[in-house]
Amino acid sequence: MSFCRFSVLAVAVSVSLVCIAQKPASPPAKATRFANDLLAKMSVEEKVGQLEQAAGQLYTDTQSDDLVRKGQVGSFLFVTDPVRANALQHIAMTEAPHPIPLLFGYDVIHGFRTINPIPLAMASSWDPALAEHAQSMAAREARAAGIHWAFSPMVDIARDARWGRIMEGAGEDPYLGEQMAAAQVRGFQGPYIGAPDYLLACVKHFGGYGAAEGGRDYDSSDISDDLLHNVYLRPYHAAVDAGAATMMSAYMDLNSVPASGNVWLMQDVLRKEWGFKGFVVSDWDAVKSLTVHGYAADAADAARRVFDAGINMEMTSSTYRKYLPALVASKAISVVQLDDMVRPILEMKYELGLFTNPYVDLDKFKKETLSAEQRASAEHAAEETAILLRNEGHVLPLAKSAKTIALIGPLADSQVDTMGSWSLHGVPADTITIAQGLREKLPNVQWLVTKGVEIKRTDASIFDAQAPEPKPTLLTEDDKKREFAHALDLVKQADMSILVLGEAMNMNGERASRATLTLPGNQETLLEAAVAVGKPVVLVLMTGRPLDITWAAENVPAILNVWYPGTEGGHAVANLLTGDANPSGKLTVSWPRSVGQLPLYYNTNRTQNPEAAATRYWDESSAPLYPFGFGLSYTQFTMTDLKLSSDRLAPDGSMEASVHVRNAGDVAGEEVVQMYTHQRAGSASRPVRELKGFTKIRLAAGEERVVTLKLAADELRYWSPSLKHDVLEPGTFDLWMGDDSTAKLHSTFQLDAATIAAKR
Ligand code: NOJ
Repeated sequence: MSFCRFSVLAVAVSVSLVCIAQKPASPPAKATRFANDLLAKMSVEEKVGQLEQAAGQLYTDTQSDDLVRKGQVGSFLFVTDPVRANALQHIAMTEAPHPIPLLFGYDVIHGFRTINPIPLAMASSWDPALAEHAQSMAAREARAAGIHWAFSPMVDIARDARWGRIMEGAGEDPYLGEQMAAAQVRGFQGPYIGAPDYLLACVKHFGGYGAAEGGRDYDSSDISDDLLHNVYLRPYHAAVDAGAATMMSAYMDLNSVPASGNVWLMQDVLRKEWGFKGFVVSDWDAVKSLTVHGYAADAADAARRVFDAGINMEMTSSTYRKYLPALVASKAISVVQLDDMVRPILEMKYELGLFTNPYVDLDKFKKETLSAEQRASAEHAAEETAILLRNEGHVLPLAKSAKTIALIGPLADSQVDTMGSWSLHGVPADTITIAQGLREKLPNVQWLVTKGVEIKRTDASIFDAQAPEPKPTLLTEDDKKREFAHALDLVKQADMSILVLGEAMNMNGERASRATLTLPGNQETLLEAAVAVGKPVVLVLMTGRPLDITWAAENVPAILNVWYPGTEGGHAVANLLTGDANPSGKLTVSWPRSVGQLPLYYNTNRTQNPEAAATRYWDESSAPLYPFGFGLSYTQFTMTDLKLSSDRLAPDGSMEASVHVRNAGDVAGEEVVQMYTHQRAGSASRPVRELKGFTKIRLAAGEERVVTLKLAADELRYWSPSLKHDVLEPGTFDLWMGDDSTAKLHSTFQLDAATIAAKR
């Protein structure tokens, strides 16, 4: 699939999406020359050392120093103290056999010290420029601390909310996934690799990790060729085309071949077809794991097979360090092959300027960390990512007349949860909770704050060490009953209530899959009891996945989903609840009614009895509770007058589709105009609808504008499972424009000319 770079052409009357062809980045010739000169001087052990990535916390300082001194390590992860990074770098540059700087990598997923909203939230902004900016801020803060390489973006398409890592990606759609993947790569890497204040991006987890069976983390992905080419691989490809420097291999079996040893993925697709010139790192212990998968006979076999597949750097399991020297000595692996694996790593270090300046400037580090600019950027991002799911009777924004408000729920005043998981370097104490934000914003309101219930994961989480949960305070059944009753008393005393419910941050992320989607613990009972009191209730959801809120969707008048909004979340949510900011986020995942509907996504194929598509189950609707693309605002937008620039489209041409958008309410707001198409006939069944363009616009109250989206014929290309190559097939296409994936404004056009078959 070609990648369309998103750009706003004209703001006065029209907004367009323009396709700009991009190419994977190639290292400059001088970087290659430098790397080759160095390779000519290095021993086999030193070269293998460059392929080793060690985790800072797995070694004592003395052991790490020693590895560096001997040239046995090329990269560290989880070294976040700049003083320690400088010390290690000093050893690498002065005591190792050759002065080769270390590359420090880290999970800069949604911020470094200043935490942005989680990635699924960032995608909900439907604003790639916002995602790009947020990652450039994260890059700046992390780079100032000595990090050179972010293990991000995570671009795995996910269609199953049980999978805990759905919070790390952009959701279910390949087109939106492409835009967000490329935007984040640009945000991390800046205008060129080595640009000051930027990092290397690492696109993960290649590939197909998001299709884990049953949503169970690490379990196999079984993906048809059709879905691989037309859905799952597309965001990785877009990221490569945007110039991503590195990729990370995934843990799981892809169609029974472990991704980390998968020659088809790493060689045929990534290097040969896509022209990737950077380097690939394995995931943590993923190399050694090939023995667990019943793929490699032993660790030496794993090293050999992963090397042959094209994994340049091994994260943590050290099989390269242990076995490659002997494999080279026995000529099972040639020195030329070894050099080919090391070269891109040296090239990247050279391009980053590390050979000339590997050290952290401690003054800059202090200035950048948690700066006012970082906080302001995070706050804006959180405002743009919240989704208003319901607002009956305009319960929101909060009425100015409310004098006493009950603020209830385990997440209302929890700093650690407000950051969300994968905020490993974030500090809970830096974080503004919703309670704090609201108290600051409305100091004259009497806030009645309590938890009502406590929620807790029943087993350990990988995030516990980084961000320990506050200790439970409700230890006995009596404590729990008393607290529950206290919360309801506050609801009764107040003019209205805000309940902040959802999942604790460690309930999603890695190793955090669930078999249910219910509100954990006693939260649903608390919500229902609060609503039964009969006063207005607002539900603020904090979550990393869609939850089963079917009861709330009918009984709670206002629902604002804020995901995990990050360090400045409390300020942003206070702005949103009071109307100083207007919610504009839209779902990038179809929101299920219950776990039984999973996997759930809008772009299914058209099937028998299409008019009954919402009644595929007899005991429940098969339609989502909220469709992909859905989100409300405090204002109302109307969209009318869909026009196509032509009803015929040449196979090398493009057309424009426009709608008239009006802000019919009395406050300013933002709307996402979305365009979907459907191919009526061809060599394969095609999805009922596919997103092909979108743009987010801001309109003042009463303002109107014609919004134009461009559709290039090339966007209609797909990989045909019957013909086994890309096709662009002539015939009739439907086109819809609107504010979600059920958009009603409809037109048709003809794609001209004979089938174009383009071999990949
Ligand atoms: C394992 C995770 O799967 C990956 O996303 C992460 O980057 C590495 N651990 C390093 O923390």
